Amino acid sequence: MNDASPSTSMAGQAEALALRYGKDAMPEAGPWNAVIGSMMTHRSVRGYKPDALPPHTLETIMAAAQSAATSSNLQTWSVVAISDPVVRAELAKIANNQKHITECPLFLCFLADVSRNERLGAAEKKTLEGLPYLETFLVAAIDAALAAQNAVVAAESLGLSTVYIGAMRNDVKRTAELLGLPSGAVCVFGLCVGYAKPGSENEVKPRLAQSAVLFHDKYTAAGDDGHRAAYDAELTRYSKRFEMSQYTWTERVLNRLGPLKSLNGRDKLKAALEALGFPLR
Ligand SMILES: Cc1cc2nc3c(=O)[nH]c(=O)nc-3n(C[C@H](O)[C@H](O)[C@H](O)COP(=O)(O)O)c2cc1C
Repeated sequence: MNDASPSTSMAGQAEALALRYGKDAMPEAGPWNAVIGSMMTHRSVRGYKPDALPPHTLETIMAAAQSAATSSNLQTWSVVAISDPVVRAELAKIANNQKHITECPLFLCFLADVSRNERLGAAEKKTLEGLPYLETFLVAAIDAALAAQNAVVAAESLGLSTVYIGAMRNDVKRTAELLGLPSGAVCVFGLCVGYAKPGSENEVKPRLAQSAVLFHDKYTAAGDDGHRAAYDAELTRYSKRFEMSQYTWTERVLNRLGPLKSLNGRDKLKAALEALGFPLR
């Protein structure tokens, strides 16, 4: 982490909070340090230089990922790092031709993976009765997400950029074939890692105000309309700068969750997961 970065100083704190929430919705400034400063500057990057990563960056990123909490220490996740350009190209096709998948120097497929535990059970000649349940799949998917986010924080602290690729779930069966996955393992998302191409660095994307997502003692939807209007205005300012097609958050939510076709085949995910060894009982 670069300690001279403005986001590690108190002035940097105000600047970082303003970028994340907009000047009108900044929360009160609390404790601050370089780790938080780095996290606050996160943005997804969709264009990468071909430059290789320093030696053993993958091992460092994995050590950070494996340091995440894991439910009951079951460690029900794995990663497949994809170097083969042919496989990369096939994965990019599954993800609607997202070019950063073939472009980035490191592409990681994060798996929800109960197969290792299943093999342990078989070796010990024990039936793992809890394995076929939705709960166990959820544990594995949560574990994978926590590990991946640690990987992202580690990568960004090293000056690298990332973007998650949820579009790997457009076709989990084909992805599993390409990666040679055993039954009980599924790619829940990919992760591009590398150095941002000039012009692709992006800016911090504002989020909903904290009062929209943080409740004290009891949930309330009472403020929804006001929060939405304010956030629509904030995201419009951001989107216009990047000439994005959908300006408001309202438009984004309606487009993403409105038509079923926006799920890009993921409406069949339950059946596909069952076929990959997750009965989801
Ligand atoms: C699980 C997950 C899957 C995602 N999948 C994709 C994807 O397939 N393609 C993409 O360009 N961005 C993807 N993203 C990135 C989000 O679009 C991005 O995080 C969001 O717009 C907020 O922007 P920011 O990360 O720059 O703050 C994904 C993010 C998450 C958490």
